[in-house]
Amino acid sequence: MKYGHFDNSAREYVIDRVDVPVSWTNYIGVNRACAVLSQNAGGYSFHQHPEFGRITRFRPNAVPMDWPGHWVYLRDDADGDYWSISWQPVGKPLDQARYSAAHGLSYSRYRADYRGIEAEQTIFITREDDVEIWDVRLRNTGDTARTLSLFSYVEFSFHTIEIDNQNFQMSLYAAGADYADGVIDYDFYYEPWAHHFHTASFEPDSFDTTREAWVGDYRTERNPLAVETGRCSGSAQTTGNHCGALHSAFTIEPGREHRVILMMGYGDREVGRAVRAKYSDPARVDAAFDDLRQFWDRKLASFQVASPHAGLDTMANIWTLYQAEVCVMWSRFASFIETGGRTGLGYRDTAQDVMAVAHTNPEKVRQRIRELLNGQMGEGFGLHLFDPTWFATDYSDPALPVRGETRIPESAMHGPWWACSDDHLWLVPSILEYVRETGDVGFLDEVVPFADGGQAPVWEHMKRGLDYSAKYVGSSGICMTMRADWNDCLNLGDGESAMVSFLHHWALVEFVEAARRLGRVADAEHYEQMRRGVQEACERELWDGAWYARGVTRTGRRIGVGADAEAKVFIESNTWAIVSGAAAPERASRALDAIDEYLYSPWGLHLLAPSYTVRDDEVGFVTRVYPGVKENGAIFSHPNPWAVVAAAQLGQGDRAMRFYDALLPYNQNDRIEVRQAEPYSYCQFVYGSQHPLHGRARHPWLTGSAGWNYTAVTKWILGVRVGYDELVVDPCVPADWDGFRVTRRWRGARFDITVQNPDRVSRGVAVLELDGEPVDRIPVQPEGSTHSVRVVLG
Ligand code: NOJ
Repeated sequence: MKYGHFDNSAREYVIDRVDVPVSWTNYIGVNRACAVLSQNAGGYSFHQHPEFGRITRFRPNAVPMDWPGHWVYLRDDADGDYWSISWQPVGKPLDQARYSAAHGLSYSRYRADYRGIEAEQTIFITREDDVEIWDVRLRNTGDTARTLSLFSYVEFSFHTIEIDNQNFQMSLYAAGADYADGVIDYDFYYEPWAHHFHTASFEPDSFDTTREAWVGDYRTERNPLAVETGRCSGSAQTTGNHCGALHSAFTIEPGREHRVILMMGYGDREVGRAVRAKYSDPARVDAAFDDLRQFWDRKLASFQVASPHAGLDTMANIWTLYQAEVCVMWSRFASFIETGGRTGLGYRDTAQDVMAVAHTNPEKVRQRIRELLNGQMGEGFGLHLFDPTWFATDYSDPALPVRGETRIPESAMHGPWWACSDDHLWLVPSILEYVRETGDVGFLDEVVPFADGGQAPVWEHMKRGLDYSAKYVGSSGICMTMRADWNDCLNLGDGESAMVSFLHHWALVEFVEAARRLGRVADAEHYEQMRRGVQEACERELWDGAWYARGVTRTGRRIGVGADAEAKVFIESNTWAIVSGAAAPERASRALDAIDEYLYSPWGLHLLAPSYTVRDDEVGFVTRVYPGVKENGAIFSHPNPWAVVAAAQLGQGDRAMRFYDALLPYNQNDRIEVRQAEPYSYCQFVYGSQHPLHGRARHPWLTGSAGWNYTAVTKWILGVRVGYDELVVDPCVPADWDGFRVTRRWRGARFDITVQNPDRVSRGVAVLELDGEPVDRIPVQPEGSTHSVRVVLG
């Protein structure tokens, strides 16, 4: 069953049936302000920080699931009938009103067609001023004039979410709101710098600033008193619960359009007045929307593919990149699942996310990497969860709790034994990917402080991480797991993690290559020796005859092996054995076969199989998770693309595509009765075959599978990747593809790449031409230049 379709020319996903089974969300805003909104315009917004800078309120995990919202109501003043432009909150029966919603790149549009009025509300945030704009257009499609009222409505939130959710004694008595000069100003009395505003392009006919007055007693936002009576009450009050509601009454002649602009943001009435003066002019709104479009045009132009696979093109060209960018822009703590109370940066999550978008967002990637380096302890491991504002010296926003001081909460500091043993390792390839993409070799010499004092160049930070992993190994030479590795729920403590040793190997391969390229000879030799030792230990200790073990418990029991009754095969160790380059070719190929045989399903690859059913605290929390759910044998999305990369690296193009296709949300667009979640975003997991809800996807947007799927498809299936001084085109595609085209921008030059596959092979470059001339490599080209690349597989 389908609820919508991909409109690639508009770069939108259009929700034709708005009564989707769970909220389908989008992320609005690309700079300092963000709104997370559903297909009903339900959701919340914040400025800078989802924990400390809340603008509007959300009722997490509530019924209805996405209330309150950023809503516009319409009322026919002739008979009092009213509706909303988004289907909810009024929820007119869908056989009487036509509703749709479209999620685009950093904007959403809601449409209602009801009783001769076509209405549209487009929500976006301007890049220049961080103002949330609701561009509302109404058209009278009937043949009589209509007298209507329009009401905007938002519920303001206390700016600190913990206080807003837990300490009403404070939140209810420390804020107020009032109206003057067309602007509603919500202020925090005890923090005089903190305000939110809501304003409009019209002179309001009435307004409310308190929620209770607007909604009315024993009512909800579905039937608010103000809308029902056709007039707000003019409420204003210090203390209480506050809202922004502005009302305009007008007439639309038949065939005519009526356009109003509503605005909201962070700042006091003065700011609101200036914003009102600027964006009441529709031409300014159009220009700001166009600016946002161009912002995404530029990003998307960095990599575009035209292949025989429509779903791959749609996802790689638009949605997967967008999802990966959202994870980097807003970290992974603001959604309808993570509702913003836990914020900052997850060390490993961020270190992986940045890897995928170095070509589209190099400045943000650089910033995030510096933040992560700042969250690294001198001994080399990362603070697993930290807030970069602890270390910031240049935060000018007074709403943030720490201003120009270094203050790390006790609870966030931890020693080497409470580290997640993988955290710091992801950072090494990410840093090097950033350098390869940008050519910014000087970054490696920049000096960045450690979290616990002292400072060192970026290069030295990487060495500390590699050394930490070399130091904390078990008796067999495999890295200790500590609190956990990538798998939060596998808590082997001072037992051993195969995955981390493979990651260590991967990071060492990358580091040694960089050291050689940059002439850092002593480091190249030293870490090459370390790499060899890690590889030997992995091959000696971890091979189990047909695949690689997952680890060793603290009492010396190997897990993820053929002798186990449960969790015989894990995806993480077997994919990383291959991707890290540590596995010998014959073993690599058998490990991939095991992944396919034990973990594949048409909905994606399971994390492990069979799921644990017996609790075992020596293995960890994973054994206390329901079988088929999350880490205990769900189709956990994040490791799926590792298997795609592994298959492509082994030259198995058909298998790589089969793995990629199984998880691809696009392919499930017509199975929403099972999948439920949005088909334009990867979810954290899909229920596994050992659970009755097999195929249901949960936790959209904030998952490492966005970045990793993007990497898998662009760099390994299509095979377009960058080296330190060359562009590499080495695809691994299904054998029935006749070719594809890619446009890639790199270091200011544009490469129009055509790949032909006359012999119908999966891999192997028989011909490589640059601008019509045979070449053996594609070097860096002058900025602003355009080049054609022809590759013939064979
Ligand atoms: C989600 C966490 O954000 C991520 O850090 C972790 O790797 C996965 N769960 C797997 O446990």
